[in-house]
Amino acid sequence: MSLLICKLAKTDTSSIKFINEEMAALKWKPGLEDLECYLSLDDPGVYVAKLDGVPIGSVCFYKYSSTYYSFGIFIVKKEYQGKGYGMKLFNTAMSEVDWSQIVSAYSVPEMVNKYARYGFEFRWMCKGYDVNISKALEILTAMTFNPDLSVKNINEVDQEVLLRYDTAVFGYQRNNFILKWLHAKGRHAKVVVTDEGAIVGYVAARVLYVNEEGYRVGPLFADSTEVAQVLLKALFEDIISHGMSCSKSVIIQCPTEKNENSETLMELLQGRIYTEFVYMTTKGIPNGCFDKWYGITTTELA
Ligand SMILES: CC(C)(COP(=O)(O)OP(=O)(O)OC[C@H]1O[C@@H](n2cnc3c(N)ncnc32)[C@H](O)[C@@H]1OP(=O)(O)O)[C@@H](O)C(=O)NCCC(=O)NCCS
Repeated sequence: MSLLICKLAKTDTSSIKFINEEMAALKWKPGLEDLECYLSLDDPGVYVAKLDGVPIGSVCFYKYSSTYYSFGIFIVKKEYQGKGYGMKLFNTAMSEVDWSQIVSAYSVPEMVNKYARYGFEFRWMCKGYDVNISKALEILTAMTFNPDLSVKNINEVDQEVLLRYDTAVFGYQRNNFILKWLHAKGRHAKVVVTDEGAIVGYVAARVLYVNEEGYRVGPLFADSTEVAQVLLKALFEDIISHGMSCSKSVIIQCPTEKNENSETLMELLQGRIYTEFVYMTTKGIPNGCFDKWYGITTTELA
């Protein structure tokens, strides 16, 4: 059997389908067109392993800047695991990474010790919540918010200003990715501005690849818990009015150990924890205003 490891091309629809289906089977809940968004990046670093031409595994190392990389989508199809394909895939893809710089990833807890050999260290725990939109909306609708905060649609705010807000909060410029992310199929997004016109938070959500499973939020960036609540209320109303899924379930992945307010918010909305995962990095912590991270953009691209 011949193993070929190559960069994933946008046109390789069978590999894209393979990765989406593997992620869905692992309950990673990929969003519709998430992969297309990753592939729209300059040199996205998504690799696929093919055995006799058939995809069996994937991994991604994305270079956000010369000082920061992220790693994710590391999968080998169940029946091919334990045969060395994972290590080969990882070692091929990592060859373009500058290991003197920061590399980050969200990992399943059982792999963290194994990644230690590459210098990854545990940083903080994160939780994935499943929130019922109707229930959450009932709670949010009963609350009173500062009238100086107003909700806008993405196309009602200056895109440059929004992108600057994202860069400041995320910590690295990722404009092309965010523009694609906010406008891909099945997306919902809202921005909150003050009466002086300053952006103080934004949220995006997408319908899941497995349509009947609902939606996934990310990012949910906000200057305060109140702004995050205003954003979620507007987002959930938008989803109820014209979402593509019949499900009322929304997944939100939160850096709970880093921003405890994100955990308090999920408890308020009666979110059910469906998974826990670890944020790990090499060489210290990347930039980012983590106290404004109420929801991670995506665990596949840290
Ligand atoms: C993790 C996974 C990709 C490894 O693929 P694989 O083909 O089984 O790996 P190999 O046969 O090359 O690996 C042999 C050993 O090295 C480990 N390993 C593989 N890749 C590794 C890496 N990049 N870093 C450290 N350890 C690694 C494997 O876990 C395995 O350990 P074990 O013998 O103690 O069980 C595969 O098990 C998988 O798809 N798991 C489910 C998805 C998942 O959890 N992905 C990781 C998310 S953080």
